[in-house]
Amino acid sequence: MKILVTGKNGQVGFELMRSLATLGTVIGVDLKECDLSDSAAIDKLLEKVKPDLIVNPAAYTAVDKAESEPVIAHAINAKAPEILAKFASRRNIPIIHYSTDYVFDGLKEGTYTETDKINPKSVYGKSKALGEAAVRNNAPKHIILRTSWVFGSHGVNFLKTMLKLSQERDRLSIVSDQIGSPTSAALLADVTAIIAKQLFEPGACQKYGTYHLVTEGETSWHGYAQMVVARANKLGVNTKISSNAIQSIRTADYPLPAPRLANSRLDTTKIKTTFGVLLPTWQDEVIKVLEYIESHAERLN
Ligand SMILES: NC(=O)c1ccc[n+]([C@@H]2O[C@H](COP(=O)([O-])OP(=O)(O)OC[C@H]3O[C@@H](n4cnc5c(N)ncnc54)[C@H](OP(=O)(O)O)[C@@H]3O)[C@@H](O)[C@H]2O)c1
Repeated sequence: MKILVTGKNGQVGFELMRSLATLGTVIGVDLKECDLSDSAAIDKLLEKVKPDLIVNPAAYTAVDKAESEPVIAHAINAKAPEILAKFASRRNIPIIHYSTDYVFDGLKEGTYTETDKINPKSVYGKSKALGEAAVRNNAPKHIILRTSWVFGSHGVNFLKTMLKLSQERDRLSIVSDQIGSPTSAALLADVTAIIAKQLFEPGACQKYGTYHLVTEGETSWHGYAQMVVARANKLGVNTKISSNAIQSIRTADYPLPAPRLANSRLDTTKIKTTFGVLLPTWQDEVIKVLEYIESHAERLN
């Protein structure tokens, strides 16, 4: 089986190159090999690779920058998935695509289920919502995985930023009125591999659709930062601030170009029951990634 993975150097793409290798030949591409804002380049790539499965973690993920670059965000997050989905449909192959909590408005009281109405408020969220719709409407054999607060040892993310800042600063103020589930890129990639395998087994046609995939449990960015710093200290990282000295602030105290979601919590019942996966807690994943970063500090710096 030939598996095409876009964005091979992104947080999730990097982990997918590892996790999908047991299922077939993984052909990863980055921006240099195929610019996803260029429709002709995507067509050319698809004709060249002729994949049996498309996995599309590539995206324009700069949430704030997207507010001033809506055209490019739309090209990568909405148009490119449409082209990939149309190819998947023509070839009758599955496509696995990733989406985000930002398709919601964050105003719901409880956790969001897959059937909740979307209502994106940012350019990024709107472009991702259009990408989801393009995949859903064009490729019958689709899996859309909505996730949130992605982190990993590879790439830029909140966990790594906190680890760095805690070694540089003796004061940190972090938002405490946004709630979500930090989710590791490795978990997303591992579950993707489990799903991908099942898509080539009997009964797969019942399983196509949209799923929420996040870790168990929830926290605020403030609680997340505290956990990262506390755990880093335990691992011997010499931080300039202790976890309980991190100040809690409100979203309104830290204005950003794109609106944030007060509630990013996603219900994962559907993915657990359909694919039989067990999801770890966000704390377990944070510990795993911190331990990896610290034990590979020289290589990752
Ligand atoms: N990060 C989060 O917190 C988060 C939260 C919820 C959902 N998601 C979704 O999860 C998926 C994976 O996110 P991630 O965190 O792994 O993203 P990421 O680390 O930002 O990686 C995105 C990848 O897309 C590639 N890319 C961007 N523009 C491109 C273009 N024009 N042509 C080709 N490739 C391009 C990037 O390539 P270069 O490295 O070469 O620029 C990068 O490899 C995305 O669909 C994202 O929307 C992410």
